[in-house]
Amino acid sequence: MNKAAIEKSEIEELAGRALQARELSYSPYSDYRVGAALLTAEGDIYTGCNIENAAYTPTNCAERTAFFKAVSEGKRNFRAIAIAGGPAGQPIAQYAWPCGVCRQVMMEFCEPENFVVIAAKSTGEYQVKKLSELLPDGFGPSNLAK
Ligand code: THU
Repeated sequence: MNKAAIEKSEIEELAGRALQARELSYSPYSDYRVGAALLTAEGDIYTGCNIENAAYTPTNCAERTAFFKAVSEGKRNFRAIAIAGGPAGQPIAQYAWPCGVCRQVMMEFCEPENFVVIAAKSTGEYQVKKLSELLPDGFGPSNLAK
């Protein structure tokens, strides 16, 4: 077990699923293709890709696609997400960490100290961070507890 409480084999599987999901990216405007693979506490994996729109602002990131698919099917507990993103037509050269909006969506459903975010270039080249590192002092459901 590494510091992130996730096994190497699980990271590699999630990275692979994120890379596969990236193939389905609908990104004709940015040509920046992103895939994500979200692991639930039950061990299921929900994938997502970025889905762009001619009106631009309705664009949905890959991470949120994966979260919304999972939550809409009754899943609320998550362990990790892998993200693979980069310009179309070339190997991924940079790690694609989630945008601020996606970090906030993670904050809604995940424990910042436990939820693992994996940025992958390939199944063998990745970096791992906790949500608390990506969104320190985040605002979440506990702030609204009565
Ligand atoms: N994008 C994601 O899918 N995830 C992120 O965390 C950052 C950005 C997408 C949105 C848009 O389709 C493209 O990447 C360029 O911003």
